[in-house]
Amino acid sequence: MTDHLHDVLIIGSGAAGLTLALKLDPSLRVAVLSKATLSDASTYYAQGGVAAVLDETDSTDLHVADTLVAGAGLCHEDAVQFTVENGPEAIRWLIDQGVSFTLNEDEQPHLTREGGHSHRRIIHAADATGRAISTTLVQRVRECSNVELLENRVAIDLITTQKSGETGNNRVLGAYVLNSATGEVEVFRAKFVAMATGGASKSYLYTTNPDIATGDGIAMAWRAGCRVANMEFNQFHPTCLYHPLAKNFLITEAMRGEGAYLRLPDGERFMPRFDERAELAPRDIVARAIDYEMKRLGIRCVYLDITHKPADFIKSHFPNIYEKCLEFGIDITKEQIPVVPAAHFTCGGVMVNLASHTDVQNLYAIGETSFTGLHGANRMASNSLLECFVFAMAAAKDIQEKIASLPEPPTCKPWDASQVRNPDEDVIILHNWEELRRFMWDYVGIVRTDKRLARALHRVELLKREIHEYYSNYTISTNLIELRNLVLVSELIIRCAQQRRESRGLHYTLDYPELAKELHDSILTPVNSAHRH
Ligand code: FAD
Ligand code: SIN
Repeated sequence: MTDHLHDVLIIGSGAAGLTLALKLDPSLRVAVLSKATLSDASTYYAQGGVAAVLDETDSTDLHVADTLVAGAGLCHEDAVQFTVENGPEAIRWLIDQGVSFTLNEDEQPHLTREGGHSHRRIIHAADATGRAISTTLVQRVRECSNVELLENRVAIDLITTQKSGETGNNRVLGAYVLNSATGEVEVFRAKFVAMATGGASKSYLYTTNPDIATGDGIAMAWRAGCRVANMEFNQFHPTCLYHPLAKNFLITEAMRGEGAYLRLPDGERFMPRFDERAELAPRDIVARAIDYEMKRLGIRCVYLDITHKPADFIKSHFPNIYEKCLEFGIDITKEQIPVVPAAHFTCGGVMVNLASHTDVQNLYAIGETSFTGLHGANRMASNSLLECFVFAMAAAKDIQEKIASLPEPPTCKPWDASQVRNPDEDVIILHNWEELRRFMWDYVGIVRTDKRLARALHRVELLKREIHEYYSNYTISTNLIELRNLVLVSELIIRCAQQRRESRGLHYTLDYPELAKELHDSILTPVNSAHRH
């Protein structure tokens, strides 16, 4: 058995994981794991940019106020204030790392606009901000001799004192990790573990996310004893390219920020009928309006139209989208873009405090995996990357303050594969994967009802039993790990949705179309949690 020992184990190589690695003291032994390649992360695909107060006519109060409005009453004000206040410093740090953001004529960062923002405050690298951030941070981490970067390592489960049979405070000791290149399950021991595994949008049939977004960190943390919250708030991005050959290509909200209109097939610009902010209303409103029009008219997509802007403007602001659409035969300077909503962002997640610490001692959750309280019932555009940077920095500070007093983690039991055999047929994984994502889309999507949620939960329970049996009897694989996590995370989404008897933000149900008077988070507590009384 391969046994690794580090001070800090970071699971995930997106914005959150890489920032934490770079912010830790170089004297610490750090490992960063990635399920596939280092850039296989939502971060790499981010388009619009990062929201922060960077213009003198803007202010912390305005950014806070916009976030609170978008969050529909459920944002935690301390988390919003903390994130927004630390935003400018996070951006300065990114610039120091070498991220080249787009500049305006005065050689200052060009700021664009997106839904819900009352000001231009999105710093960006044309329409491929994530690529610029990811490649720069990966390059910087590669220069750190204390950081081991390990690709094709799929974390399966956390190792905790509770699981090892110890009594007392539940502490994390490391993780079991599949080396998908060799098939071996390795043990990673560490004084601290940070889950930076991204979101869970692959629970849905249509998504803007890359394949890694299977909620692994949320599922692992839940099994380790962490509470999760507000999983019902899955954000659907209004404008994913609708084309049979485009798997999950996003058309950035910044295009609407720069003046693009949403139109029906007959050319009607329909958003003013739904909200006075029209195309720049928060995402939940725009996605629901599109869903409503598609169902009302029986159409497969709506259209995003920027053809009224000069071709040079379009090509210079959106070079990546221009090229990609051209590959599919759409010249966006002359033609409208067919778009549909798709699952985009997981607002809920593993509950953490302002230092990113979870319910399990020495275990952190950062980035999209976490629930910090920043997003409330609906995330405002470009606040997500900001959250990754700010909370990864907070985690680094907390770890740094605690590390001196911690002993090395003890030796852990090796992974036991003595009772399993090679699977006779893998079709069951493919079938269950497709079935799960299809009913999550149909029953737990943009518009929900009690009946649909109950149907979905019934199916999840059947799938869970089948997958558990498969997991117990057959050799582990990446697909099986992901499916096991997806089915659990889907259950958490449904159970949170069932708790919410109102329509708020991203959760819309025909059975309770109004806002409830009382504000509450949907908090789920696992049976092995210290928080269960
Ligand atoms: P990710 O970047 O998703 O990284 C997750 C990492 O965890 C990956 O390295 C993955 O390999 C690893 N991982 C997962 N499971 C395991 C496992 N079991 N074992 C080992 N490793 C694992 N937000 C904005 O603020 N602005 C934008 O402009 C923007 N545009 C977006 C565009 C697109 C197309 C998408 C999909 C998202 C966009 N978002 C945007 C959202 C934002 O990109 C993400 O929320 C953010 O990048 C998440 O970063 P992260 O570090 O938490 O996770
Ligand atoms: C986009 O560019 O539209 C995505 C921005 C985000 O998800 O914050």
